[in-house]
Amino acid sequence: MIPKKETQQYILPRRMRGLQPTLIRQFFERALPDSINFGLGEPDLPTPQFLRDEAARIARDEQNGYTSHPGIPALRTKIAEQYPHLNLPMTGVVVTCGSQEAMTDAFMCCIDEGDEVLLPNPSFPAYDACTRIAQGKPVYYRMPAETEFSFDIEEFRSKITPKTKAAVVISPSNPTGKIMTAADYRQIAEALDGTGIWLLSDEIYSDLYFGERPHSASEFYERTIILSGLSKSLSMTGWRLGWAACSDPEMINAIQVLHGFTTVCTSTITQKASLLAWTDEAEAAKQNARDVYKARGEFLVGLFKSEMGLKATSPEGAFYTMLDVRELGDDLDVAEKCLQNRVVTVPGVAFGSEAKGFLRISFCNTEQKMVEGVERMKEVLTR
Ligand SMILES: Cc1ncc(COP(=O)(O)O)c(C=O)c1O
Repeated sequence: MIPKKETQQYILPRRMRGLQPTLIRQFFERALPDSINFGLGEPDLPTPQFLRDEAARIARDEQNGYTSHPGIPALRTKIAEQYPHLNLPMTGVVVTCGSQEAMTDAFMCCIDEGDEVLLPNPSFPAYDACTRIAQGKPVYYRMPAETEFSFDIEEFRSKITPKTKAAVVISPSNPTGKIMTAADYRQIAEALDGTGIWLLSDEIYSDLYFGERPHSASEFYERTIILSGLSKSLSMTGWRLGWAACSDPEMINAIQVLHGFTTVCTSTITQKASLLAWTDEAEAAKQNARDVYKARGEFLVGLFKSEMGLKATSPEGAFYTMLDVRELGDDLDVAEKCLQNRVVTVPGVAFGSEAKGFLRISFCNTEQKMVEGVERMKEVLTR
């Protein structure tokens, strides 16, 4: 007989302790009515009509049961073809509920208790959370603010230890909008060669670039797990279409098994409609998104300079810039003042110590709204 316990108090499992909603969410949840949103990284462009129509047709006319756990073969084939250098069979791809699920699955399949994971500082807070859920230890490498958050191989190399199990790269970056160069990836591949360390490459913004198309880390280093999806480039955040792709059959098999037990499969309607995500129409929509975000980024950086005399990093991709507010005080206080004047921003510290003194500004807004947002920031910050 198991003895009865005095109290039935819920005890959070160790792997969950210390996890909290991100500062990005915390600021967004506290937004006043009629706020301008420079906070969330959510595309404001409409989901292309042909995708909506196709999803509506599929929901109306077809029976949509479960698909096989890793997704419908035609979709996995299309995704595999996106990485011709890997010569990947469709079995090298698992379709997931957004790239967030691919990320969590990949961490869980790489990391054991006590393993070290190299994470960029600054970077998307989910990497830290995923490392902790997998009971690993985050170890940060700086992307130095003084070089506009560019990659520094010496810094990266200095953090590798015998306990390092995985490293994360993201390009184009959330929060900085910076892109890793081929030379950066070559240096990483050289540093990781023969170590067995997994490279988790977050490529969710890979279709949103303003110059040359970014490279995939997998072009340079074999033990790469690509994490990507359609959320950002086709304004499909709520459709939940992501994937993990990897040329190691055992790794992708592990991800597939975990995925089967966490979500079974991504929405069948979403998967079938997403077959149109590589058509000429879709490519035109992605090109339009690139053009729109590029113009907006330039406009907003110019506006901060002309209206407030502040410097913001020049975005190379994604839809973010880092606004340097060090002369105005602590980034948390500055973001709080903005919030009280109905402008949502994210304090840099949400992404790591290296971004302290900066605000992450997302330009998922019309020019008119951006003008209004900067005006409101000016009212409270430059008096
Ligand atoms: C860097 C980064 N990775 C992954 C995700 C997850 O996106 P999704 O799950 O919609 O593909 C996001 C979303 O904001 C992101 O910014």
